[in-house]
Amino acid sequence: NPASVKRQLAQLFDVSLKKTVPDEEDVVPLVDACTAKTGGVKFGDYQCNNAMGIWSKVKGKETGFRGPPSIGQAIINNLPPSEMIDSCSLAGPGFVNVVLSKNWIAQGVQRMLIDGIDMWAPRLPIGRAMVDFSSPNIAKEMHVGHLRSTIIGETLVRMLEFTRVKHITRRNHLGDWGTQFGMLITYLFEKSPNQEDISEAAIGDLQAFYKASKLRFDDDPEFKLRAQQAVVLLQSGDTRYLKAWKQICDVSRAEFDKVYQRLGVQLEEMGESFYNPYIPGVIEKLDKLGLIEESDGARVIYVEGVNIPLIAVKRDGGYNYFTTDLASLWYRLNEEKLEWIVYVTDIGQQQHFDMLFKAFRRAGWLPRNENAYPKVTHIGFGLVLGDDGKRFRSRSSEVVRLVDLLDEAKRRCKIALLERETTNDWSEEEIEKTSEAIGYGAVKYADLKINRLTNYTFNFDQMLSDKGNTAVYLLYAHARICSIIRKSGKDIEEVKKNGFIVLDHEDERLLGLHLLQFPEVFEEACSNLLPSVLCDYLYTLAEIFSKKFYSNCQVVGSPEESSRLLLCEATAIVMRKCFYLLGIEPVYKL
Ligand code: ARG
Repeated sequence: NPASVKRQLAQLFDVSLKKTVPDEEDVVPLVDACTAKTGGVKFGDYQCNNAMGIWSKVKGKETGFRGPPSIGQAIINNLPPSEMIDSCSLAGPGFVNVVLSKNWIAQGVQRMLIDGIDMWAPRLPIGRAMVDFSSPNIAKEMHVGHLRSTIIGETLVRMLEFTRVKHITRRNHLGDWGTQFGMLITYLFEKSPNQEDISEAAIGDLQAFYKASKLRFDDDPEFKLRAQQAVVLLQSGDTRYLKAWKQICDVSRAEFDKVYQRLGVQLEEMGESFYNPYIPGVIEKLDKLGLIEESDGARVIYVEGVNIPLIAVKRDGGYNYFTTDLASLWYRLNEEKLEWIVYVTDIGQQQHFDMLFKAFRRAGWLPRNENAYPKVTHIGFGLVLGDDGKRFRSRSSEVVRLVDLLDEAKRRCKIALLERETTNDWSEEEIEKTSEAIGYGAVKYADLKINRLTNYTFNFDQMLSDKGNTAVYLLYAHARICSIIRKSGKDIEEVKKNGFIVLDHEDERLLGLHLLQFPEVFEEACSNLLPSVLCDYLYTLAEIFSKKFYSNCQVVGSPEESSRLLLCEATAIVMRKCFYLLGIEPVYKL
């Protein structure tokens, strides 16, 4: 990523290191931004930490160096001249601190304003990627875990899109196949014997329908038998059973779509059932490669480092979740020619995917090197907890309807909005749109901002607060910036053409530098597939803007007005890019 400050600095240090220790191979420049964690930003913006490592390599050799500080000094002396750097200094046992030139920072931000933020996007060297996410199960609950998967998955897709991977699929691996359908169909036929008019009404509330049929299944052996026969009939393609299956799926789908519509997510569905015809062929290929073994009547695959086997075909000849994933991964690699496949599920499925991927490496269908393409990655996330620290459930029922949850977020935002004086003259539509943007944005952000591996506690009051690290706070901050620009009465496109950025005040410089660091932060978020990194960046940006820059630097009416308006505009642009990546709709006035 040529736009990253860190990489550009690393290139300069690389030149210097080659000159400083020409005889040492594999010396990689260690350059990082100074943060509170690395000892503060007091001494510089970036730091190069190579001197100590080099000293341990050259100690005792005839180099003339007397210790890490003398190496650090040599690294400084050997740096090629560059417009980037204002000054370097030596600190502690040989750290090289770099102060960037404020003109160079200003020019970088200015260039982004002219060329657009896409110039700050890194490029991934692949053409086709897929994110398998959301993937709820028909007739079962679409629970908050699926909501997390949907929110995280959509953000990962948007991040990959920004890196200009040409073709990215949002894949819904719907759980639309399996033994539960025997039970459901049998129950459906029982409830509406006149099978011509099986309608949504007969199924009604699908979760209740599922529960009732499960009760029948568990209580009545005769029903159970019919249900098992129904599975066979369905899998053999009996039209009556297929029709009923499809009807049940459609009822579920309609419910899922309500959630997707609110979240602004459009997935491409290819459910488990799709892969059914491919299963025998894939099992046969694995068998030919010698991977399939018999165990207790089941056909299994053993993989490295796991003592339980992967069950490819059950004892009764039936297929399971694993079987479908064997077939679907095969299909994705061979028919869809994907170079990177990312699976987003709760962390509980880690072993499932670990075994699946290992089986494919054993078969030689995936490279041994996990970083080589074609590549597969499982992205796990923690549980969603309620205030009581237990799995999130609503008070009245065991499950929370996701649609209700999103509607509740919106409802609360609407109340808060109507209480504001500034909204008195808003149209009904404006109120609706804005409360949706804030409400749904808040739910998404609360989920994305925490490291995805940690469990998170679902709490409306916290996520809808206008203080602290919330979408509400961020959306307000963005709206305020837009209103500063509006109130200046200037045409910002004109200012972009004629004005230029000057970073003389330390808070202007701080803001400019943070803006310029967007490319490297994005790169970090992207290479670890960690949206939370992006959230931290966005929150800090809003804080620097409001608490430093805007508190201490007058914008409208000041002699620096045009430069400062450009900084406002650049901040708004970077914030909007982050919002977009996080699936949040920006708000322009509040
Ligand atoms: N349906 C699964 C669940 O609800 C998730 C499927 C994830 N994708 C996959 N290819 N296994 O847990």
